[in-house]
Amino acid sequence: MSKEVLAVSAYITWLARGFEVGKSPAWRGQNTIAAAALIPVPRLDPRRGESLFNEHCTSCHGVDGQGVQIGDKKPGPLWGPNSWNDGAGAARVYTLAGIIRYARPYLDPGRLTDEEAQHLAAFINAKPRPVYPFKAQDYLTEKLPADSVYYPRRDVPVPAQ
Ligand code: HEC
Repeated sequence: MSKEVLAVSAYITWLARGFEVGKSPAWRGQNTIAAAALIPVPRLDPRRGESLFNEHCTSCHGVDGQGVQIGDKKPGPLWGPNSWNDGAGAARVYTLAGIIRYARPYLDPGRLTDEEAQHLAAFINAKPRPVYPFKAQDYLTEKLPADSVYYPRRDVPVPAQ
């Protein structure tokens, strides 16, 4: 066995400490809003998301989304030139909503509803972020997902904001 494979296997064994073999931890797979609970993107309300953001998130992320220093931690920017780019997974509204629904707020995860998480994600992903330079090469053969809000849509009219 190569040194690299041994190292990776040692690392995975270390990560798995305290977890029962063959049994899923409670959080596994909990990062997706159930299909039945998805709200069509044009019906999501970024203003509702903004007020939820002000209520639940600004203590750590700041009103400007750029992150507040809290002890030794400072969350990275949620939008703007130093945040994830607009071709990233988190730039998709439902993907981000799933993360927010199950992993946010940081110290009290699981507190937001499916609906709240989607309005929040619509707010965060209505903000400017770095442009992924190869977007024109994406979705040439597959259908553009409904929540890929930073890609030009040819199939549905863009709702007025
Ligand atoms: C108590 C502080 C705190 C609160 C409140 C909080 N966050 Fe965070 N958040 C963090 C920290 C710290 C990180 C970075 C560490 C991590 O990802 O676990 C983070 C990371 C994130 C990330 C990942 C960013 C990236 O670039 O990977 C997202 C998205 C996010 N928060 C959204 C939210 C939303 C939406 C809310 C409100 C519902 C919220 N957070 C509330 C502290 C907080």
